[in-house]
Amino acid sequence: MQENLIKIKNDFLSKVEKIQNAEELNSVRVEFLGKNGVLTDAMKLIKTLPNEEKKQYGQDVNVVKNLLEEEVSKKEKFLEEKKLNEEINNAKIVDLTTPNSQEIGSLHPVTITEHKLIEIFQSMGFAVEDGNEIETEFNNFEAVNVPKNHPARDMQDTYYLDNGQVLKTHTSARQNYIMKKYGAPLKVVFPGRCFRNEELDAGHENTFFQCEGMMIDKNINVSNLIYFMKTMLSSVFGKEVKVRLRPGFFPFVEPGFELDCSCPYCEGKGCSVCKQGGWIELCPCGMIHEKVLEMGGIDPNVYQGFAFGLGLSRLAMMNYNINDIRILNSGNLKELSQTKIN
Ligand code: DAH
Repeated sequence: MQENLIKIKNDFLSKVEKIQNAEELNSVRVEFLGKNGVLTDAMKLIKTLPNEEKKQYGQDVNVVKNLLEEEVSKKEKFLEEKKLNEEINNAKIVDLTTPNSQEIGSLHPVTITEHKLIEIFQSMGFAVEDGNEIETEFNNFEAVNVPKNHPARDMQDTYYLDNGQVLKTHTSARQNYIMKKYGAPLKVVFPGRCFRNEELDAGHENTFFQCEGMMIDKNINVSNLIYFMKTMLSSVFGKEVKVRLRPGFFPFVEPGFELDCSCPYCEGKGCSVCKQGGWIELCPCGMIHEKVLEMGGIDPNVYQGFAFGLGLSRLAMMNYNINDIRILNSGNLKELSQTKIN
């Protein structure tokens, strides 16, 4: 092939490669294939050649012309597709079959309550952790001082999996992991979903939420726990509440407490939320058992701490005036799509 044709071909290909849009493609097409284009000029050269070269040159010019035209149409197609894809990707797709596409959803009452709790705990310097829903028997029980065959296991009717693991019955199942991960001192909360084989009624569900917390440091005692709980619950309810402790047994704390707070809705006078008693039972807690600290790799002679298991589902029900826990796992949108937190 003639030198000039090779050069035209190469120039053309290198220009086409850099083209980004249809306008650029058109100007390159005109430059090479237009009336006064580079290749059109090269075709006109044929007249000036000796007869014996005319045939070969003519064929070569045609080869180059076909190639150029083919490249132009390939590039054209490519650019069209690219443009279409960009349009599709940037398009806002509205599902016209949705009954009312203006109506937006809302977060679940438990989710909103959890977010609010996390905000409060973070403002008090707590780290926030997630937990597994499937746990080893060790983490769920042994690591919180509930050995095999201990009667305390009967307090939580457990779902066992075929592989011996369990559906976490309480957020305390994460305590051991947290202690090993953070070491002492620590301040961590870990909300999560829990499962127990409960007989269902308005107050009992097989799937519910808790928010566990631990604070471990030197010289921590029950008065720290009481002060902390009072501050935390006052913040949760947005008003000053009183707290009171009753003895409660949980193998992972010693001493263990049932902690009640004065009903924030009736100021303790008696209402349907507190069942006229003026107090609500919301947050079992206690001083972390020495054995639990030891199993978490923390020396109980140096460090002490308290732990609590806040009833997150119960708190959400109170915030949203939901009087049947089963609603939380249902499709009852009237109750579940409330967006304001009280
Ligand atoms: N894990 C207990 C339960 O689900 C609740 C609990 C009690 C958690 C005392 C604690 C605690 O951290 O100190 O019944």
